[in-house]
Amino acid sequence: MATPHIEVNDKELFGKTVLMPGDPLRAKFIAENYLTDVKMVNQVRNMFAYTGYYQGKKITVMGSGMGMPSIGIYSFELFKFFKVDNIIRIGSCGAYSPELKLYDVIIAEDAYSESSYAKVAYDYDENILPATPHLVTALNSSAEKLNIPVVNARIHSSDVFYRNHGDVFRDVRDKFGCVAVEMESFALYANAKFLGKNSACILTVSDSLVTREETTAKERQTSFNKMMEIALDAAR
Ligand code: HPA
Repeated sequence: MATPHIEVNDKELFGKTVLMPGDPLRAKFIAENYLTDVKMVNQVRNMFAYTGYYQGKKITVMGSGMGMPSIGIYSFELFKFFKVDNIIRIGSCGAYSPELKLYDVIIAEDAYSESSYAKVAYDYDENILPATPHLVTALNSSAEKLNIPVVNARIHSSDVFYRNHGDVFRDVRDKFGCVAVEMESFALYANAKFLGKNSACILTVSDSLVTREETTAKERQTSFNKMMEIALDAAR
């Protein structure tokens, strides 16, 4: 079975729930450290996907790539052609709010974006799209059970990482109430809405646009355990 971007020997290899980090190497890290009985499902264009078991539950982890066009393609194909019902993005974000510290964990209840993705793809006029409420509830219950503090908030899905004016984030924060920025959730939420599927997003603060503090790439790869544990527990 092959779609333009995913190739598998057996499409039943995908679990109903997919955890989706941006970085395919983080998918590998999660599979190697948290899942048992792991099989590699996809490696087309190095967008690795692995299926394994977490406390008896079949779960797939697959990289989404960076940005809305990339997660838009992969999540659409997973939902539409591989019978995936739930995608939980696990990513990093830049803090817009001065109250957020590095490594704080955010559950993105909804995502604001100026992206044309939802309008062009599905003629949606909304610039704010919600996560699926029962997945948000599941993530919150898991966080509580694991005793990990989380912030439920609106985030900004941006198309731009590097920009001329470092200060424009304040406008988005103050006008739309976004506490942090990433680059994928809005497209994921749009796909889930259109296809009648479920999606949510959990993020760790990797840098702050307010204080300019940042984590290193190495820390980003390995030290997001709290967020992964919440997502895995919720997926279970
Ligand atoms: N901008 C966009 N996406 C991000 C950032 C950022 O500053 N940090 C982590 N993901």
